[in-house]
Amino acid sequence: MFDGTAARFEGVTAVVTGAASGIGLAAARRLAGEGAQVALLDRDATALEAACADLSASGGSCRGFALDVTDEAAVERSIDIVESEIGAIGVLVSAAGVLESGSVEGQDLSLWDRTMEINLRGQLLIARAVLPRMQSRKSGSIVMVSSVSAVVGDKGVSAYAVSKAGVASLSKQIAAENAANGIRCNCVLPGWINTPFNDVVFSSQKERSEEVARTVPMGREGTPNEVAALIAFLSSAEASYVTGSEVLIDGGLLLGVLS
Ligand SMILES: NC(=O)c1ccc[n+]([C@@H]2O[C@H](COP(=O)([O-])OP(=O)(O)OC[C@H]3O[C@@H](n4cnc5c(N)ncnc54)[C@H](O)[C@@H]3O)[C@@H](O)[C@H]2O)c1
Repeated sequence: MFDGTAARFEGVTAVVTGAASGIGLAAARRLAGEGAQVALLDRDATALEAACADLSASGGSCRGFALDVTDEAAVERSIDIVESEIGAIGVLVSAAGVLESGSVEGQDLSLWDRTMEINLRGQLLIARAVLPRMQSRKSGSIVMVSSVSAVVGDKGVSAYAVSKAGVASLSKQIAAENAANGIRCNCVLPGWINTPFNDVVFSSQKERSEEVARTVPMGREGTPNEVAALIAFLSSAEASYVTGSEVLIDGGLLLGVLS
């Protein structure tokens, strides 16, 4: 049983996408802090370098790969390098994602395609690159980052919501196909989390605070570290009987409180 002090990821190699910012960065920090050797994948080379420097300065072991998760060859190459130069991948956290606004009838189709390409196809590509290695060892854990938008109506972000529903389903397909292979796959569904991600949705901090206060029973946004703690749990051996799950982390946003 985890007593809160043991390093749950000692000797584990972890790959985290979207690792230069927000939830991915917090997950990478958490895994590295608990002993993992972490490969950070992100398309923002400058932020990635800063993230790696930060992790290394706190004693973590990390290496950055600047790539776009939609670039299949680059993704495959990075996983080859991780396996040959860092270690056998035991944990994958797939967090890279983008948010574009647009209603169903008003959606710019190129943004629709781009959203699906990054949020859904990107998660497929990284999983496909890692899965055969995990299968050959009959061991591994994957956590995909979906969203509360996957399971409710969410006005004005149709492409995003549909892509995240796809991620939740993809996670279940991976779980189903690999349960007998010793590989678990779960997804987390965050509500409002305090990262730069939602900046496109709000025109001001005041609007953001009012929306959060109005919709979230706990009255605040979640922190990336709170999501990272859940991701770390799902990634760890403590969650050894958890697979195919969608776990909400939303301060009660989807409780549907009536009064
Ligand atoms: N912040 C929230 O409120 C919230 C809520 C629900 C779900 N999520 C999900 O959490 C995940 C992480 O979001 P965040 O809040 O940390 O946002 P963030 O903007 O802080 O981080 C996202 C990271 O993904 C990277 N990225 C984007 N497109 C990429 C690509 N094509 N290739 C490689 N890297 C790419 C960005 O460079 C960035 O570093 C996303 O999948 C998002 O959908 C966030």
